[in-house]
Amino acid sequence: MQIALCRSGLLDNTGSPEKPPNVSELPPVDDIPVALRDTPIVNRRYRVKPVVLISGLVGLGAIAFIAGLLIGNPAPKPKVASSPQSSQSSTGSQTPADNLLGHLPYKEAPASELQPIAGGGSFKLRKAAAKKYNAMVAAARADGVILVTISGFRSIAEQQPLFFDVKAERGQDAKERAEVSAPPGYSEHHTGYAVDIGDGNAPATNLNPKFENTAAFKWLQKNAPRFSFEMSFPRDNVQGVNYEPWHWRFVGDTQSLETFYKAKNLVVKSPEPKEGATPASPIKK
Ligand code: DAL
Ligand code: ZN
Repeated sequence: MQIALCRSGLLDNTGSPEKPPNVSELPPVDDIPVALRDTPIVNRRYRVKPVVLISGLVGLGAIAFIAGLLIGNPAPKPKVASSPQSSQSSTGSQTPADNLLGHLPYKEAPASELQPIAGGGSFKLRKAAAKKYNAMVAAARADGVILVTISGFRSIAEQQPLFFDVKAERGQDAKERAEVSAPPGYSEHHTGYAVDIGDGNAPATNLNPKFENTAAFKWLQKNAPRFSFEMSFPRDNVQGVNYEPWHWRFVGDTQSLETFYKAKNLVVKSPEPKEGATPASPIKK
């Protein structure tokens, strides 16, 4: 859009196509054809006819008039036009990241980066996340709360039946299935930073929104940030994924932050460009 405007000359206040002629470039006022000069010419062959003289004077007057206008009132510089992009973004806009049915693409954590975690089972998380998670489980236990691990790292291959086979068993369409399960390649569990947590004293609430009524959830709400865990899918999340109070992700180092935030929740704000300034390029997602 901006390129098109520039090319049209609207944004280019130095562009020659729209530039009025400089006064110094106009023909000098006394650069009159010899035939129009008022010096009488005796030679009849060169005598000027009245009609030619009148036309010449009218033309001369027109040139003088235009020159006067240009000197007294130079053409205004074209104003910098606000493109729709800049006026929209000045109010802030959510940038859509690549997504599939609301889920974002994630790479699988390398096996060498994973290590077993506390909370039962043989689940694994990335090393940094595992260390904090184990500390969190121990802290909860010290407070009389039993955090049970329901799921940790999942490969893309493991996500395949969870999405497609369960979808088929339940007769769900893709959109409906995606409200509770990510398509393979799009689950936070691939990253090795996400974990599903239950309450050892309320197993009936496992993977159920009623988990929010348990002591485990209340403890997590209050304490998980101390261990750099946050809920991925709160109510009414922008991804449109169902509320999952049991699904938490680690955001305690640069790599995990980049994984979940970089170029995904970006709000583009650009100030109105000043006159004559080149508007900021839109951020490419
Ligand atoms: N249940 C979450 C969305 C997942 O499948 O990753
Ligand atoms: Zn989960």
